[in-house]
Amino acid sequence: MDISTIKQELETEIVRITSFSELEELRNKYLGRKGILNQLTGAIPSLPKEERASAGQAVNAFKERINSLIQEKEKELKRPSQESVVPSVDIGMPGITQGLGRLHPITQIIDEICGIFVRMGFSVIEGPEVENEFNNFTGLNIALDHPSRDVFDTFYLKYQQKLLLRSHTSPVQIRVMRSEKPPLAVVVPGKVYRPDASDASHSFMFHQVEGFMVDDDIRFSDLKGMLEVFAKGVFGENIKMRFRPHFFPFTEPSVEVDISCIICGGKGCSVCGRKGWLEILGAGMIHPNVFKNVGYPKDKYTGFAFGMGVERIAMLKYGIDDIRLFFENDLRFLKQF
Ligand code: DAH
Repeated sequence: MDISTIKQELETEIVRITSFSELEELRNKYLGRKGILNQLTGAIPSLPKEERASAGQAVNAFKERINSLIQEKEKELKRPSQESVVPSVDIGMPGITQGLGRLHPITQIIDEICGIFVRMGFSVIEGPEVENEFNNFTGLNIALDHPSRDVFDTFYLKYQQKLLLRSHTSPVQIRVMRSEKPPLAVVVPGKVYRPDASDASHSFMFHQVEGFMVDDDIRFSDLKGMLEVFAKGVFGENIKMRFRPHFFPFTEPSVEVDISCIICGGKGCSVCGRKGWLEILGAGMIHPNVFKNVGYPKDKYTGFAFGMGVERIAMLKYGIDDIRLFFENDLRFLKQF
């Protein structure tokens, strides 16, 4: 008598059962009057005498096994299914808050500055951070012996090929003028590099916004008017502006532009060094040599250009006293903008 095959059959059958009626059928099949268990019991007397006792034990053990499997299944069928009681998603559980990022303060200021010029009709154009010597220096009328060309003032990449990290955004003037004809009105935001030791006011990388306008009849008064719109847009309607004569190789005449100190209003304080004025940018009328270097016809165009340090503008506007704060990625600082 081979009970083990029957037992295996029972175990696979019972696993598949999903309702009480199926379970009842199974109970009948095994425990009913003409069921398998009774058939097994009925076969015992016809076995050889020596086997009857062990066969009886095996049949009894099988009966117990059937009963306990049926009981278990009954319990399982009575138990309410997980899904009907507990939703599989706990909609009451607090969610994981996703921190919303925001633009870096430098990016915000760049957008603000460029936005003011875009509203006056300027286009925004970017240039590469790796430049050649012509665009960074020669084209801009910067003499071969000018100190800014020195390896102490410019990062050279491969000296042989005259490649460098641009030390200002002015080379984009050369790029644009070499490929486009006036009228031009362009602002150029971007990173620039200088081998300075880091301190509260120096960083080997910082940002500038360059601007220039070229056409038949662009005048110094256009520069003044547009810079005034810019300065009042960033620092408020109440500031005053002044132009001081200066020297840049790529502009003639050249100026440095100051605004009245936003802390003391011009009376003199520690921020403005008792002067009442804060320098915000360099500017001037584009030098005729620059037009010559980009291949524009002689005396056909005039134009102005200006360049400013973005970190400096942001530091003045928000009263930040250390440029390194912009680059440390400390959220306690960044979250304030
Ligand atoms: N390129 C100058 C610098 O990095 C800034 C500058 C001054 C740009 C005068 C100009 C300008 O376009 O006209 O310091």
